[in-house]
Amino acid sequence: MLAQDRAIVSPLAKANNSITFVPEEIQQKLLNLDRPCYVFLENDRIGISHQPLRDTQTQMMVNALLPEQLGDRRFLDFHGVKYAYAAGAMAGGISSEELVIALGKAKILASFGAAGLLPQRVEKAIATIQTALPQGPYAFNLIHSPSEEALEQKAVELYLKHRVRTVEASAYMDLTPHIVRYRAAGLYLNSQGDIETHNKVIAKVSRLEVAQKFLQPAPDKFLKYLVEKGQITPLHAILAEKVPLADDITVEADSGGHTDNRSLVCLLPSILTLRNQIQQKYHYERPVRIGAAGGIGNPEAALAAFMMGASYIVTGSVNHSCIEAGTSDHTKKLLAQAGMADVVMAPCADMFEMGVKVQLLKRGSLFPMRAQKLYDLYQTYKSIDEIPSNIRQTLEKQIFRKSLEQVWSETVAYFQQRDPQQIERAEQNPQSKMALIFRWYLGLSSRWSTTGEAQRQMDYQIWCGPAMGSFNEWVRGSYLEFPENRKVVDVATHIMTGAAYLYRLQNFQMQGLNLPSQYAYYHPIKL
Ligand SMILES: Cc1cc2nc3c(=O)[nH]c(=O)nc-3n(C[C@H](O)[C@H](O)[C@H](O)COP(=O)(O)O)c2cc1C
Repeated sequence: MLAQDRAIVSPLAKANNSITFVPEEIQQKLLNLDRPCYVFLENDRIGISHQPLRDTQTQMMVNALLPEQLGDRRFLDFHGVKYAYAAGAMAGGISSEELVIALGKAKILASFGAAGLLPQRVEKAIATIQTALPQGPYAFNLIHSPSEEALEQKAVELYLKHRVRTVEASAYMDLTPHIVRYRAAGLYLNSQGDIETHNKVIAKVSRLEVAQKFLQPAPDKFLKYLVEKGQITPLHAILAEKVPLADDITVEADSGGHTDNRSLVCLLPSILTLRNQIQQKYHYERPVRIGAAGGIGNPEAALAAFMMGASYIVTGSVNHSCIEAGTSDHTKKLLAQAGMADVVMAPCADMFEMGVKVQLLKRGSLFPMRAQKLYDLYQTYKSIDEIPSNIRQTLEKQIFRKSLEQVWSETVAYFQQRDPQQIERAEQNPQSKMALIFRWYLGLSSRWSTTGEAQRQMDYQIWCGPAMGSFNEWVRGSYLEFPENRKVVDVATHIMTGAAYLYRLQNFQMQGLNLPSQYAYYHPIKL
């Protein structure tokens, strides 16, 4: 702020104390989001007040707008939350009980990261979260697991048994009886004869064809199958034919973890259009809401998503660096130093053989390079025995740090507990065996990151997208620069408050007033 600005004493300010020409006070008034702002121009200086003034001419005004008003009010009512903001699941319990509970206590929805965890571990999380948040809000991830179908089925059984009322369904390419069962088993008629649901579905998608499946009622073939198996009643099946499979669809653009790297500005409008077309066909009483995820790491991105028509926003990467995330301090530190371009796609463990990749941090880890090396070898050779001995020795020394025989016996022990069919398949097919051996490294590297395995820091597999870098850039110089201060509730609150603040500035700009750039930045102040 310039000294001369501070010295300004406006004649109008004398006439009415509520107008200010002092930059710091202008900023404060703009930040009072619960009050309208009136702008006056006097000799090229800008004055702001919360009230219209009688003796002077109001040039323009913006209404009060609280962060709670951004997005679709029906999302707030339906989920019993304060903001149209949710924290997406992060696998392996990175979206931990602590994270879900912290956000839930602030009436913000978060999804427990159930993917990759065994049912006993998920059941424990359900008990902890339900005890802390008996009235919610919270969600659990229901991840489609084509290679481990039993886990998806078990997850649905657990969610039904323990009355988990909201799932974030993700990674679906096609529907399964399991997701249909969860949805249909919660449908009932209220006393007015309207269809209500106990089981809410937020489906996360990155493709139009998958969105289409969730926007429509559940397929007949699954409903019939489930009735025959006695897993839903005939009434459930009739009701399921009249409502969409999902209540909300999160459109996921370029994000951390599994991603199609699509651009949000392209993907979101096309799924909004699809939703409108399907709504015109079915005339649902409750149209499906469309949310946005992928790349949201600051108030500007949040506001852009809302202005494009998102009913709500979902974050992921930014929460990974927060105190409550179930990962190691070293990982959080690396995430807090990441720039926007410090991410890369690398082969993933769960769909390694299909060549699927995930987005993760490249700075500070050799994992992306090593995982790619393993994938290239998998493509080049048909079995472990075909790999030339010098390459094999390098693998054993640098990547596995043990013999491949040892890795194989550990792999057998692991899958015998989890999914013995994988071992049977590998015994028949040497290339599948090679894939399982390589997956030992890919699977453990994310666990080393979460548990903080000191000997393996250079092998950490840390999922994150460009949102992490844009968040770091935004909070540089504020208390949120440091991971030890990053609380998930603070991050959510500042992103939403900043978006509401920036909306004011945009609103003034559309009226022809460009406020000086010093006001354009929303600075997170310790809550
Ligand atoms: C560490 C990490 C793990 C993730 N794991 C899952 C998961 O298990 N299931 C899921 O549905 N989404 C998962 N995601 C995606 C997030 O829920 C969220 O949709 C996404 O991160 C939003 O994009 P952003 O990373 O750009 O914020 C993960 C994201 C991250 C960063």
